[in-house]
Amino acid sequence: DWTPQSFVEETVDALKAQLGNDKVVLGLSGGVDSSVAAILLHKAIGKNLYCIFVNNGLLRKNEFESVLKQYEGMGLNVKGVDASARFLDALEDVSDPELKRKAIGRVFIEVFDDEAHLIEDVKWLAQGTIYPDVIESVSATGGPSATIKSHHNVGGLPDFMKLKIVEPLKALFKDEVRRVGASMGMDKDILGRHPFPGPGLAIRILGSLNRENVRILQEVDAIFIDNLKAWDLYDKVWQAGAILLPVNSVGVMGDERTYEKCVALRAVESTDGMTADWVNLPYEFLQKTSNEIINKVKGVNRVVYDISSKPPATIEWE
Ligand code: XMP
Repeated sequence: DWTPQSFVEETVDALKAQLGNDKVVLGLSGGVDSSVAAILLHKAIGKNLYCIFVNNGLLRKNEFESVLKQYEGMGLNVKGVDASARFLDALEDVSDPELKRKAIGRVFIEVFDDEAHLIEDVKWLAQGTIYPDVIESVSATGGPSATIKSHHNVGGLPDFMKLKIVEPLKALFKDEVRRVGASMGMDKDILGRHPFPGPGLAIRILGSLNRENVRILQEVDAIFIDNLKAWDLYDKVWQAGAILLPVNSVGVMGDERTYEKCVALRAVESTDGMTADWVNLPYEFLQKTSNEIINKVKGVNRVVYDISSKPPATIEWE
């Protein structure tokens, strides 16, 4: 019978046998999967695991600093690399969603490769790939859903890196990954974290983005997520976030007419992201959150709630 404990024992043994005294590099994203993969590998090979956590400038508000601290607290050998400027420069004037993903994927590989080269004699690249990632990337290369989205974190290894790949979570579903993490004593704050796309806020700012738009969306997103936590709704939602729309609309503030941005809030229930339903959040919650966003975030004068399910809509808007 599969239990998280037996999975951990068997996987740690297998990783020890497979990796011996080799050095391994792993990119942490702040998400559940790469974090659990890191802890498993850390158990198996200790300081031979070199973790890299890249700030692409498209993370949630304060996420880079707080998550980096958490990783250090877990005893991981982790290096934080702030490459925000490199990513944001590469995204200037890019508005097509697939081109955004490609630009981000390309810069990520460049940054990661630079960092990996600093680790002398590294042999392996570890990834937190889970089973649904494997299926989605297969269907993205054939089948009717071909090229809907290029998930840059699957199969993105350039030849020049010449590293062997180790993917300890490849056979697991998300809930199993969470159970494995819990059985290793990992913080619930990490294990319960909502999924967050690799390209981050770039695909939640529709059209082309700039630093100011990223800042606005970070503020809006932080209010939404903090309120979900305060209302005890965060754990009941599979994924939530805000989307900055390329639409200005008329509003009124005091005696002044405003013409400012509109944000959409999205919260969905799902088990694997393949299908999803919008969440029936309480009206009082939406009312309070909307007021807070409009009062506190300069440049936003309208908030809407996305009531579309997947399919036919997707979770992200790009
Ligand atoms: P969609 O929008 O396709 O999203 O319904 C399904 C799940 O995948 C996440 N997502 C991504 N994750 N790179 C990622 O790492 C991407 O390019 C990407 N696009 C979507 C999305 O947040 C949701 O959890």
